[in-house]
This record gives sequence, C-alpha cells and structure tokens, in this order.
Amino acid sequence: MRVYDLIWKKREGGELTAAEIAFLISGFVNGEIPDYQMSAWCMAVFFRGMTFEECAALTLAMADSGEKIDLTEIPGIKVDKHSTGGVGDKTSLVLLPLVAAAGVPVAKMSGRGLGHTGGTIDKLESIPGFRTELDRDQFLKQVSRIGIALMGQTKTLVPADKKLYALRDLTATVESIPLIAASIVSKKLAAGADAVVLDVKYGDGALMRDYGDALKLARTMVEIGNRTGRRFKAILSNMDQPLGMAIGNSLEVAEAIATLKGEGPSDLTELCMTLGGLMVFLAGICETPEAGKGIIWKILTSGAGLAKFKELIEAQGGNPGVLEDPGMLPTAPVVERIAAPRSGWIERLECRALGLAAMELGAGRTLLDDVIRPEVGLKIHAKVGAYVEKGAILVEIHARSADDAGKVIPRVLNCFRFSEEPVKEPILINESL
Ligand code: URA
Repeated sequence: MRVYDLIWKKREGGELTAAEIAFLISGFVNGEIPDYQMSAWCMAVFFRGMTFEECAALTLAMADSGEKIDLTEIPGIKVDKHSTGGVGDKTSLVLLPLVAAAGVPVAKMSGRGLGHTGGTIDKLESIPGFRTELDRDQFLKQVSRIGIALMGQTKTLVPADKKLYALRDLTATVESIPLIAASIVSKKLAAGADAVVLDVKYGDGALMRDYGDALKLARTMVEIGNRTGRRFKAILSNMDQPLGMAIGNSLEVAEAIATLKGEGPSDLTELCMTLGGLMVFLAGICETPEAGKGIIWKILTSGAGLAKFKELIEAQGGNPGVLEDPGMLPTAPVVERIAAPRSGWIERLECRALGLAAMELGAGRTLLDDVIRPEVGLKIHAKVGAYVEKGAILVEIHARSADDAGKVIPRVLNCFRFSEEPVKEPILINESL
C-alpha cells in the first residue's frame, strides 16, 4: 500500500477499505507517515467526506491505537457522557454526582478546555487541592469505593486522536463530521463504558453551528457506537447562548454547587435532568428516560447529589468547604459590573464572542499549554427573552486587573442584542436520538 495512492483515492471521491484506513492510522501513529501526507488526506476527507463504513473503520482503528481502559472489574453497567463543547457548560459537575448517587458507577475521563469552550478538568482544578491526575489503580478503586471518579485523559488513550487532532487544528480540518465523529467515539470506546450519552451542541457557541450538521454528527456517532455493541444515545442542545449564567472556571463550579442545592439556573438544571434521565435509563435502573428524569430530580431535591459531590471532592484531595462557602474558590480581585445601555428584551447573546472574551481574561487557552486563571470570567445577569431596564446590571466581568476588564468591556457589551418587542426564550433541547 502507498500513502500517495490512498490520498489520491480519497481526493477523487473514492471509498477506502478498513485495511487501508488501519494502515494510515497505524503508520501515522508510529511515525512512518509524515504530517504532510496525513494533512493532505485530512483535507481530502474534509472535502470528499467519508462513507459510514469508512467512518466506522476510522473510529475502530483510532480506538485500537493505544491503551484501552477495562472497567469490567466494576460491577454494573457503566455509562459515560460526552459534550461536544460549549460556553458555560458545567453540566458534568452537576450531572455525574447525581447519576452516581442513583447507583450508576461513574468512571469518567474528561478533557481540558481549548479555544472559546471550557473543560471539566480545568473547572475541577479550581477547587483548592483537587487532584485530577489519578493512576489507573486509584481511579478504579475510587469508583468501587464511592461510585465516582473523574480524571484527565491519559496520554496513552487514543494516541491517534492526540496526533491527528493537533494536525487538524493547524490545517483547518477540524470541522469535518466524519473526523469529529471518529475522534469522539474512539475516545469513548477506549474509555471502556458500556453505554454513552452524547450532548451534541448546535448554534453560535458550538463546534457545529448549523443544526443540520449537528444532527448528522449525532446520528453518525450513535450509529457507530451502537454498531460496536455498546449503547449510544444523543440529544441535540442549543448553544446560541451560554448555558447557565457563569463562564469561567471558579464561577462555573460555584454555579454547579448552587445547582446541586436546587438553586441553579433553569436551563442547566433541565439539561442535567434530561442527560441524567438517559444515563440511568441506559444503566437499566428504569424503564424509560422519562422515569429516569424523575429519579434524578428526586436525587437533586434530596441533597444526595450534593453529598456525592462532597465525597468526590474529598476523595480527590479537594477542600469540601467550597460547598458551604463558594467564597473559598479562587476569586478575582476586580469585578466590574456593566449596566444595560438601554431598556428592552434581550434578543440575542453572541455566545462564541462571550466565550472568547472569557478566554481573553484568562479563563481558557489558545494553546494546550497556556496557563488557566481559575478566578476570572463572566457572570451574565440577563439571557435571551429577559426584559432589562436601562441601568440594570447586564453582566459582571471578573478580572485580574481593571486593565484586563477594560479591554473586554466593549466587546462583552456588544454581545447583548436588544429588541423593542418581547422575545421568546429559545428551546434548549431539540431532539433525542
Ligand atoms: N472534540 C473532539 O474530541 N474531537 C474533535 O474532533 C472535535 C471536538
């Protein structure tokens, strides 16, 4: 087999066999296929797409490229969750303790934030003392002991994705549905869960801005996942505005804690109920996702989810005092409160631009080794559909200095679009597959 021929075949719109795809992936991972040839192949895939068979073969070849986590020693059906990434998406922090409290073992590997979206690991690390680097033994023992453990992805899990994603990021080939589907599903397969719930975001702040593309991505991932003998389900959720009110690591942890106390924003709470319902349903605890939702709601209102979050924090070396006093989380020295320049209904919130503004304050990273500032971010006071009076607080900017805050104020203000007429709140969850 010659790499040149495989690039040529894809460029001409041909279909690669599973053996050809496995040859490309193993050659790339072991350094025999250079970046320039793999880049050319990714670009050919970007323009020509992949058949379902090709995408499934790519997923399996990638999942086979490194270590696979064996969760069989943990009794019960293990259910994982994945979000395609959004602004203010702190769902995992709320959802996973709720699901663990329902008796579903949660052995979760999460990622770090990149670009305008955040990552669960960065958020957890804003809890003083919280360790996200566990070895495999500690990880599995903790799941057996308290039903939940959360750690960063190991370097040996799906090395093909690490290498390929870095290449795609530099060659404008990230936004390809088959490449994204293979990237996500391969990591879920290698992470060992029996079932997976996918939260596929669409809209301005999402990777897939277009609803149709997000639906196609969701369908592809569910179909590939189900074909491997695991059970995959997906929902499509709106990311035209941030989820909840907080963007930035400490601020999001505080919002997650409030949500576990039943005092969180309604959109975040609703999303956690829906995803949690699906997870306990897939774990075989109830007959329908709707019944699962009821179970998760009871756990939330009883405080059992908050108690599980406390156990998780304690087990991973964090200070559980943050649950009683979120002021113990890192706090920004400067908080600028920005007033509404006019009265009216909020018609639109520029979600991606808000995520980028938070990133500029230090809440996110442009490059993987940039240092995150846990204390900075934005706290929104009014979302789409809300009426605000001129002079009321629209948004708080939590910054390291007045200078940092000043730099983002005009852009943040520009993210709020007003209407003279009442505006409907957007639908959060559009579809369930
Ligand atoms: N998230 C992933 O894990 N992979 C992609 O390719 C895009 C988003």
